[in-house]
Amino acid sequence: MRSLTAIAGARVMVTGGAGFLGSHVVARLEAAGADAFVPRSRDYDLREKDAIVRALADARPEIVVHLAAVVGGIGANRANPGRFFYDNAMMGIQLMEQARLAGVRKFVGVATVCAYPKFAPLPFREDDLWAGYPEETNAPYGLAKKMLLVQAQAYREQYGFNAITLLPVNLYGPGDNFDPASSHVIPALIRKVVEAKRTGLDHITAWGTGAASREFLYVEDAAEAIALAAERYDAPDPVNIGAGREISIRELVQTIADICGYHGDVRWDASQPDGQPRRMLDITRARERFGFEARTGFEAGLRRTIEWYVAKTASVSRPAAASPVIENVPPRHQVRPAA
Ligand SMILES: NC(=O)c1ccc[n+]([C@@H]2O[C@H](COP(=O)([O-])OP(=O)(O)OC[C@H]3O[C@@H](n4cnc5c(N)ncnc54)[C@H](OP(=O)(O)O)[C@@H]3O)[C@@H](O)[C@H]2O)c1
Repeated sequence: MRSLTAIAGARVMVTGGAGFLGSHVVARLEAAGADAFVPRSRDYDLREKDAIVRALADARPEIVVHLAAVVGGIGANRANPGRFFYDNAMMGIQLMEQARLAGVRKFVGVATVCAYPKFAPLPFREDDLWAGYPEETNAPYGLAKKMLLVQAQAYREQYGFNAITLLPVNLYGPGDNFDPASSHVIPALIRKVVEAKRTGLDHITAWGTGAASREFLYVEDAAEAIALAAERYDAPDPVNIGAGREISIRELVQTIADICGYHGDVRWDASQPDGQPRRMLDITRARERFGFEARTGFEAGLRRTIEWYVAKTASVSRPAAASPVIENVPPRHQVRPAA
C-alpha cells in the first residue's frame, strides 16, 4: 500500500461513506491516517442545503470526497429517471457550493462512465465526453453527475476552488448491492447463478442479448484510485478510473457460472435492454497524472465477490446447498447460452 502523506492527518468528509464504494474508500483513507467523517443520510439528507451546511460544520473537513448518490442497474435507472436526476444533481451541486463557501481545500467529485456518449469511440477517452448524448436508460443519472464536472471546472476557473472529477467504470466486489430491484449486472448475475445452483434450477434467465460489453473495476482498486487522486491530482481535466479490460455480458455469465460450478443453461430475455452497446475506458490519464493502475485480476476479484455473497447468504440457503456453491474449476465457458 502506497503512503499518502497529504492525506495523513487530514479531516476528510466522505459522503456516501457507508455505501459499497464508500466503505472501501473510508477504509483506505483511514489506513493512510486520515480522519474520516461520514454523514449518513438518516442524519444529513444531502439533498437539503441546511443538512449540507450542518454536515460541513460538524465535520470541518479539509477535503470532501463526494460519493453519496442514488445508483442502480438498468432496471432501477429505468424506473427512477426523475429521482436519479434530481437527487444526484441537487446533492452534488449544493454540496460543492457549500464546500467552497466553507473553505474546503479540495473536492473530489466521483462521476461515472454513464456520463459518456452512447456511441463514444472505444476505448472511451476523456476528450470524447461531450461527443454525444448518453445511452437513454442511464442518461438522467449520467448527466446529473456530468454537470458536477462543469461545476468543478467553472469553480476552479472563477474561484480557484480545487475540485477534481473522476469517472469510474462499473464497479464490483464484496459489499455490493445484491437487491434484485436495484443491483448492477455482476451482483444480479451472481445472485441468479448461486440461487439456481442452490435450488437445483436447470437454467437462469439473463437480461438482454448478452452481446453488450462492459469493463469492471474491483472496488478496492477504485478506492485506491480515489485516495491517490485525493492525494496527488489537482487539475480540471476529468480522469477515467478503470481496469482497461472489456468483457461481453455473455462471457461474464459464463465466467460466473464456471466459478460457481453451475452447469445449467442461460436463457437471454431479449425483451429487456442491453444498455450501452460497449464500454471500455482509456486509462492512460490516471496512470500519467497520479500513477493509478488496477491490480486485481478480474477472475480473482469475481471469486472474492462470489465467496463474500455465498458466505453472507449461507444461513438462508436451502438444503440443496449440500453441494458446494463455489467449485475449484478453471473457467471454461461450460454454460450453453440458449438459442
Ligand atoms: N457502483 C458502481 O458501479 C459505480 C460506478 C461508477 C461510479 N459510481 C459512483 O460511486 C458512488 C458510490 O456508489 P455506490 O455503488 O457505492 O452506491 P451506494 O452503495 O448506493 O452508496 C451510496 C451512498 O449514498 C448515500 N446517499 C444516498 N442518498 C443520500 C442522501 N439523500 N443524503 C445523504 N447520503 C445519501 C447513502 O448513504 P446512507 O447509507 O447513509 O443511506 C449510500 O450509502 C456514487 O457516486 C456512484 O455514482 C459507482
